[in-house]
Amino acid sequence: MNVDDFRQMYVAELQELRSVEEQLIHALPRMSNMAQHPELKQGIMDHWEETRGQRERLDELLRRHHVNPREHQDSSMEAIISETKRWAHMVEDRDLRDAGLIASAQRVEHYEIAVYGTLAAWAKQLGLQDDLRVLLENLEEEKRADESLTVLAKKIINPEAASA
Ligand SMILES: [Fe+2]
Repeated sequence: MNVDDFRQMYVAELQELRSVEEQLIHALPRMSNMAQHPELKQGIMDHWEETRGQRERLDELLRRHHVNPREHQDSSMEAIISETKRWAHMVEDRDLRDAGLIASAQRVEHYEIAVYGTLAAWAKQLGLQDDLRVLLENLEEEKRADESLTVLAKKIINPEAASA
């Protein structure tokens, strides 16, 4: 697909974002399985549920733009996820691994927050109000997921990792 105007660029980026969510739907259960702490396992699976909803909402938007939701594959997220696996397999100690998993999960969230932020600004510029509402809704979920990971890391996971 040749991108030669702002709206096309917006839609292509929206397809990339859909691929981000799709990849996470596969990666998050694996991360939850690797986690030891029950609150971390549960936190990751709660966000997995949210992620499925996010992908649904993006699919709906993409259908309204009359494009194939699966056309683009986001290779930045592929790289982040493959680093997550590499790290988790390198760390034997389970308390340390939990701290590493949070680091990986927060990389994912920050990447998503960046992409949602850009797309929300583009949707606003293009006057796409329905898109903007959905993007801001997903963005809020990503921010909340990131904040709960921070709280969990500070309160429980990092202190346990430090005493491992
Ligand atoms: Fe997400």
